[in-house]
Amino acid sequence: VISVQKSKQIVLLRRPDGPIRKEDFGLEEVPLPPIGDGQFLVRNEYLSLDAGFRQWMNAGASDNYLQEMPLGKPVQSIVLGQVIESRNPRYPVDAWIMGRTAWESFSIADGSDLMSVLEVDADLPPYEYLAALGPAGMTAYFGLFRIGQPKEGDTLLVSAAAGGVGSLVGQLGKIAGCTTIGTSSSAEKCQWLRDELGYDHSVNYRLDVPVSQQVRELAPEGVDVFFDNVGGEMLDQALECLALNARIVLCGAVSQYEKTGKHTGITNLWQLVTKRARAEGFMFSDYVDEYPRAIGELSQWIREGKLRSPVEMTSGIENTADAFCRMLAGKTRGKCLVTV
Ligand SMILES: NC(=O)c1ccc[n+]([C@@H]2O[C@H](COP(=O)([O-])OP(=O)(O)OC[C@H]3O[C@@H](n4cnc5c(N)ncnc54)[C@H](OP(=O)(O)O)[C@@H]3O)[C@@H](O)[C@H]2O)c1
Repeated sequence: VISVQKSKQIVLLRRPDGPIRKEDFGLEEVPLPPIGDGQFLVRNEYLSLDAGFRQWMNAGASDNYLQEMPLGKPVQSIVLGQVIESRNPRYPVDAWIMGRTAWESFSIADGSDLMSVLEVDADLPPYEYLAALGPAGMTAYFGLFRIGQPKEGDTLLVSAAAGGVGSLVGQLGKIAGCTTIGTSSSAEKCQWLRDELGYDHSVNYRLDVPVSQQVRELAPEGVDVFFDNVGGEMLDQALECLALNARIVLCGAVSQYEKTGKHTGITNLWQLVTKRARAEGFMFSDYVDEYPRAIGELSQWIREGKLRSPVEMTSGIENTADAFCRMLAGKTRGKCLVTV
C-alpha cells in the first residue's frame, strides 16, 4: 500500500462574471482520507481542459446532464491516471483509468462517473486517450459520422475549427471526401488550419466581413454539413449558407457559456424549412458502447499518418486555471491538456 498524504486541487473560488479569469480559481492542498471499501486511489497524470465545463461554473447552470459546480470545491474534469491503491477488484493497482473527477493530483473514486479502465496501446502516448482517442475524438467521430453523415463531395463547415474537437472534425471530413472550411479568430490560426490540419479554406470570424458572406464566397453551392461548436451569432450566420438537405451538428455553443442569462436567440431557423435541413444535438457519451470500434479506427488513421492529433500541453497542476482561460480566449491550438 502506497501512502500519499496530500492532493493538490484547483477549486472554483467564485462565480465568473463574464470572461473567465484565473483569479476565479484557487490552489489548495488537502490531506487524503484513507480509501473505503469499493474505492480506489488514482494518481492523475493528465487533466483535460474542456470548454463545455465552463457553462456549469455559472450560477443556476444545473441541467439534465450536470449540476452547477459548487464553490470552494475542485473543478470537475475528465482525468487520466493510474490506480495506485485499490479496494475495488474492477480497478486494480497499475490500471490506467479515465473518468470524470476533478482538477486534482489524486482522486478517490468508486467506479461511477464515466470511469473506465483503458487498454492503452503501447505504441501511442497515454494522453491520446484524452485527445483523439478520448472525449474530443469521440465527439468529433460520432458527431460528424452519425449526426452529420458526410458524403463524398460534400462541403463541411466547422466552427471553432482549431480547437480540441474542431481540429479533428476537419481532418475526419477530409477522410470522408469533403471540402472543408474552418472558422477561427486570427489570421495565424486560420493559416494553421490550412497548413497543418489540411482544411481547404478558413474563415476569420473577427474580420469586418460577415461570416455568412465569407462562407458563401467559398461555397457558392452551400454547406452540406455544419459542425457547430460555437452557437449564437455564428450558428445564425451559418444558417444563411445551407445547401438543400443540409445537416447541422449541434455539438456545443462556446460563444454562449460566458453569458449570464439566456443564450442569444437564433433568427434564421426558417432556413431549415426551405432547405429541408436537419439540426440535431448529441452528447458523446451516447455512444459509449461503440467507443472501442471508434478508437480502433482513429488509432489506425493516426498510425497511417492520415490523422494528426494536435495537443497543447501545459505543465503543472498550478497552471491549470491559466491554461483554461487561455483556451476559452482562443489563444490555444488543438486539444488542451495539463500534465499534473
Ligand atoms: N456534445 C458533446 O458531447 C461535446 C463534447 C465535448 C465538447 N463539446 C463542445 O465542443 C466545443 C469545443 O470544445 P473543446 O473542449 O474542444 O474546446 P476548444 O474548441 O479547444 O476551445 C474553445 C475554442 O472556442 C473558440 N471560442 C471561444 N469563445 C468563442 C466565441 N465567443 N466565439 C467563437 N469562438 C469562440 C476559441 O477558438 P477561436 O475563437 O480561435 O476559434 C477557443 O479556443 C464546445 O462547444 C464544447 O461544449 C461537446
